[in-house]
Amino acid sequence: MKVLVTDGLSAEGLEILRQAPGLEVEAKKGLSPEELQAVIGEYEGLIVRSATKVTAELLAQADRLRVIGRAGVGVDNVDVSAATQRGIVVMNTPGGNSLAAAELTIAMILALSRHLPQATQSVRAGKWEKSKFMGTQVAEKTLGIVGLGNIGRLVAERALGLKMSVIAYDPFVTKEAGLKIGVEMKELDELFARSDYLTLHLPKTEETKNLIRAETIARMKPGVRIINCARGELVNEADLAAALNSGRVAAAAMDVFAKEPPGESPLFGCENAIFTPHLGASTDEAQSSVALAIAEQVSDYLVRGTIRNAVNFPSVSGEVMIQIRPYLNLAERMGSLLGQMLTCLDDVTLEYSGEVVKFDTRPVTHAALKGLIQAHLDIPINYVNAPAYARQRGIKVIETTTEETQEFTSLITIKVHGQHEEVQEIAGTLFGKRNPRIVRVGGIILDAVPEGSVIVIRNHDKPGVIGNLGATLGKHGINIGQFKLGRQGGQALCMVNVDSPAPPEVLEELRKLPNIISVRQVKLD
Ligand code: NAD
Ligand code: MLT
Repeated sequence: MKVLVTDGLSAEGLEILRQAPGLEVEAKKGLSPEELQAVIGEYEGLIVRSATKVTAELLAQADRLRVIGRAGVGVDNVDVSAATQRGIVVMNTPGGNSLAAAELTIAMILALSRHLPQATQSVRAGKWEKSKFMGTQVAEKTLGIVGLGNIGRLVAERALGLKMSVIAYDPFVTKEAGLKIGVEMKELDELFARSDYLTLHLPKTEETKNLIRAETIARMKPGVRIINCARGELVNEADLAAALNSGRVAAAAMDVFAKEPPGESPLFGCENAIFTPHLGASTDEAQSSVALAIAEQVSDYLVRGTIRNAVNFPSVSGEVMIQIRPYLNLAERMGSLLGQMLTCLDDVTLEYSGEVVKFDTRPVTHAALKGLIQAHLDIPINYVNAPAYARQRGIKVIETTTEETQEFTSLITIKVHGQHEEVQEIAGTLFGKRNPRIVRVGGIILDAVPEGSVIVIRNHDKPGVIGNLGATLGKHGINIGQFKLGRQGGQALCMVNVDSPAPPEVLEELRKLPNIISVRQVKLD
């Protein structure tokens, strides 16, 4: 398998990829979008930082690509939904460069307060302008943090060390969690009104774009200082420039821009603004940490199938993967069996009970959906794109979990709703921790092995049916590996594992036997 690294990765990261069994690594920096499109079809893995734009057009050429690794946090340079649709895992390295970004933020707060870049320029120009560069003390000032995630928290800790009082707005962090680290959680308006310094540490999304604009600046404390080491699009540069020029905002520090490199920006004309060229993650330590992390994650996925820090798939550690793999296998086979028996799909419920609920069941659901949906589509479905295909087709997926079980240590039930077909429901379990078994099909209890070619037969529970089935298959040289039978209320269901698939004419002959209700052959890998 080949991995392409396009934006430069520290040597330690490249070495991990080179050492991974079965991986071949190529580092090609500075490829144009056209050059990248021309070669991307050769690679199973792609590792980028922020320069490479992984667009839907690029992905349309990426026939072999299985994983995109982003050595950093923001995945806004990757079209994650296009990747998901193609079943490509997108991974990032949360936390790997947080300290570097937090330290830059603190450096920005101090540099703004003491005019360090402007004073440096002035001294270099032979001037000695002490009164021009009168500064502001940061201790006892209020720092407002928007986004109290990995970086926001590290900034808070450091600002508390500088004796600032720290408040934050983050819709996903509770008051209690904030207080634990000495931060008071506030609503956004109160944060705007109270902050002497306002620093952004939230992701860029459709909702957060333009968070800092004329209308929000008007709600801020006059003379506020604004720091953006998150994403450029969070700030309307023209509105901020106007506020800097009028003095409504005392100063601003920008590490990131709506367009990078920005070329021109209205902010460049503001003397009270300082800039860095997206240096938040640029320390040796951070680069080595994200490079090691992404190299390990990408190689673990390609070599061992372990998914960590994926933004489009629930993360599963190596140890957990070993434990849940048998459930993934069971759920996929159950989904496939049910999918092949149905003529169309509708909303799906997955019921998990017993030991299986000790684990995050979402990957198991992905596996069941893969089996179900693949049975109805020719394009390749995998664990990553299966939920996207279900959503696209309006199929609602409901999961229920309970620790209680009756007969089995773990039981998975898949129900497809809104159908009027014979079989809409199937239940399965693991025997001996890893051997998949189907234990109920459409209300009939049995004990069948979901493997290889299986003929599923419904019949009236009358003498002679099994003999006729065996004789017909035998007559055509089709060997029966296993024959499992269940019955209820005068009907029976057989699952017959055959060594070679029965041709259509043999299936037709089986259908014509006395007391047969239906015959369907499914293929389970
Ligand atoms: P994170 O996911 O750990 O934290 C982001 C926080 O933002 C989360 O706690 C989330 O709940 C919160 N959030 C989400 N929507 C919000 C909203 N509407 N309002 C307020 N808070 C909201 O991410 P992180 O690692 O701390 O990164 C934060 C930002 O910094 C990201 O945009 C990332 O891309 C950027 N970043 C920049 C650099 C750089 O070089 N300048 C380096 C690393 C990260
Ligand atoms: C990130 O999101 O990790 C940062 O923007 C740093 C980088 O671009 O590598």
